[in-house]
Amino acid sequence: MSLIELTVTHVRAIAKAELQIPAGLTLIWGDNGSGKTSLLEAMFLLGRGRSFRTRNSERLITRGQDHLRVIGRIQSHDRVLALGFEVTRAGVAARIAGRSADSLAELSQAFAVQVIEPGVHKLVEEAGYRRRRWMDWAVFHVEPQFVDTWVRYTRALKQRNAALRTQPDHARAWDVELARLGERIAESRRAFMEQLQPYWRESVVALSGLEVQLHYLRGWSAEVTLHESLAASRVRDEARHLTHSGPHRADVSVRIDGRPAREILSRGQQKLVAVAMTVAQLRLLKDLTGTAPTLLLDDPAAELDGERLRRFIEQVLLLRSQLVVTSLTSESRLFGVPDATYNVAQGRVQHV
Ligand SMILES: Nc1ncnc2c1ncn2[C@@H]1O[C@H](COP(=O)(O)OP(=O)(O)O)[C@@H](O)[C@H]1O
Ligand SMILES: [Mg+2]
Repeated sequence: MSLIELTVTHVRAIAKAELQIPAGLTLIWGDNGSGKTSLLEAMFLLGRGRSFRTRNSERLITRGQDHLRVIGRIQSHDRVLALGFEVTRAGVAARIAGRSADSLAELSQAFAVQVIEPGVHKLVEEAGYRRRRWMDWAVFHVEPQFVDTWVRYTRALKQRNAALRTQPDHARAWDVELARLGERIAESRRAFMEQLQPYWRESVVALSGLEVQLHYLRGWSAEVTLHESLAASRVRDEARHLTHSGPHRADVSVRIDGRPAREILSRGQQKLVAVAMTVAQLRLLKDLTGTAPTLLLDDPAAELDGERLRRFIEQVLLLRSQLVVTSLTSESRLFGVPDATYNVAQGRVQHV
């Protein structure tokens, strides 16, 4: 699976750009503030339906415009698929092969894309939300029906929480459905995290030289079923109008000698650990599904140096992914000689 063509309209400083993207390595270079990261955001939008820099996609629309649009052509096996993604004040819309997509998950399925960017350390530093999303994106590519289970779970959870607010007696009516779907989600995640372990151990040592443990926490106590846990926390749930157990509370704890990595590691070390999480995940995905997601690397030389950078490059090249790399200089050869080079200057994109 790879991106072969990209058309961007009104994304931040980029008024309009058209790029042909080779299956190998693309280099995008330009000064600070020229629009390099904006181009990566556009690619990420196409496969994820959101940016990696902001939760609010409206902020990506060029000031003074009322919409943005990204169109991409994806080569998948022997066919080419057209994807479109649009953001307006009214919301977001995705198109696949000329028709409206049913959900953003359809985009994600059509174009698998991952990013390593300067904010990557947040995966280690921040609350569980980012790590759940990191885990779920990969689980979904291994098990496409995972999304459907997740959507149904979320719907049942909302109904239960609404009932906790208005008619607490009715809340338990959702428990059987919630427990059945929740156990399935937890099992898919557990299986994935278990398979990840050998890949993880190898990449975290190679990249950071640290012994860091990843522990999957499913979102409720290990000794009981989810149905039992829901029953046990009912009084607290009713008092706070919230469901306290279930896979929506899952996390992946990142620890060193039993202590949270975020309390011990420097920002630079957190970055290496987060990169290792992503590299390990991509290597496992490739072994399980045979496809390597497109990998976007935003200015990797800025954050890593010397031996760490060399090891990072080595790990990335092992993936044999389509690569799109940004740099401040045109001479960047970190990942070899680019198959295509683009220069960005004040929002204008030119093939070199
Ligand atoms: N919504 C927007 N409308 C117009 N310009 C924007 C918007 N958001 C950001 N910018 C501008 O886009 C420029 C390019 O940013 P960016 O892609 O981060 O550049 P680079 O990665 O090359 O440093 C910045 O100068 C920023 O001020
Ligand atoms: Mg940038």
